[in-house]
Amino acid sequence: METVLSGIRSTGNLHLGNYYGALRNFVRLQESHRCFFFIADLHSLTTHPKAADFHGSVLQILAEYLASGLDPEKCALYVQSDIPEISEMYVLLNMLAYVGELERTASFKEKVRKHPQNVNAGLLTYPVLMATDILIHRAHKVPVGKDQEQHLEITRAYARRFNNLYGAALFPEPDAYNFGGELIKIPGLDGSGKMGKSEGNGIFLTDDEAAIRRKVKKAVTDAGEKTDAMSEPVKNLFTIMSAVSTPEVLNFYKQAHAAGAIRYGDMKNQLADDICKVTLPIRARILDMLQNARYLQKVRKNGAEKARESAAATLLEMKKLMGFKAIEN
Ligand code: TRP
Repeated sequence: METVLSGIRSTGNLHLGNYYGALRNFVRLQESHRCFFFIADLHSLTTHPKAADFHGSVLQILAEYLASGLDPEKCALYVQSDIPEISEMYVLLNMLAYVGELERTASFKEKVRKHPQNVNAGLLTYPVLMATDILIHRAHKVPVGKDQEQHLEITRAYARRFNNLYGAALFPEPDAYNFGGELIKIPGLDGSGKMGKSEGNGIFLTDDEAAIRRKVKKAVTDAGEKTDAMSEPVKNLFTIMSAVSTPEVLNFYKQAHAAGAIRYGDMKNQLADDICKVTLPIRARILDMLQNARYLQKVRKNGAEKARESAAATLLEMKKLMGFKAIEN
């Protein structure tokens, strides 16, 4: 059975883009694959969050994963730092990571450009930690967005490098997984770019009905003139509609647009209705689960146990191959 693994950054609540881009597909994958999904809290340390805020959203995100349909019986759902084997393997893998290669990574260069005052070594070795996340469970498929593909390439290079150096076939080379090309990228409501954390651009799974209606109402459109080419902001609204609404509804508004007779107010009302249908039940489950801290703690603990078992097995193999000898009694 193939192993699927994906991590999600621990800062910020999950939004509609995470749901359609990742979660909904994870829910499907957990039926047919050995799955590992985790909250990448160690990675967030590169930005030096305040200690008081650092773990603030961890249980919240766990609840959001669960409310979206991830089943802790069917997958391993865990917090990265609960697996000490990850930090240990990261040290080992660092020895196979060439600094020049890391310096050339697009994500690193972007961070250097944006935050020249905080170019810490953890930022440089971010791909090593991510490769560790993946290789420690010997994953085959990693569902990630385009911005992460270079990190996967680096992961493959480390897998090959380790296997060659130690004459073993320990690590499979993981592939980026795009769900058979049927991935819907959810754009933001501000007329450009993808849905993210920035205020007003995104619909969060925890938004209540009033917030959803207010955000959709404010979404950027255009003057509604009849043209052949659809403007970018309107195209974005149609993309969101294609995810949340029925094909009939989508077609109705597409035809109205083509005929130059579209009323964006009506379209937005419909869109808000349909977003509510998707996210409000998830919101209710999130709120419910947040009331049940003991359940969340139990899920976190069980997830860590499952992940540690798999991680420890890989780490042991790895250390044997590298020549470590265990303490003898
Ligand atoms: N770097 C990923 C992101 O920013 C998060 C992540 C960390 C990850 N480790 C991972 C994704 C391992 C996939 C596999 O989105």
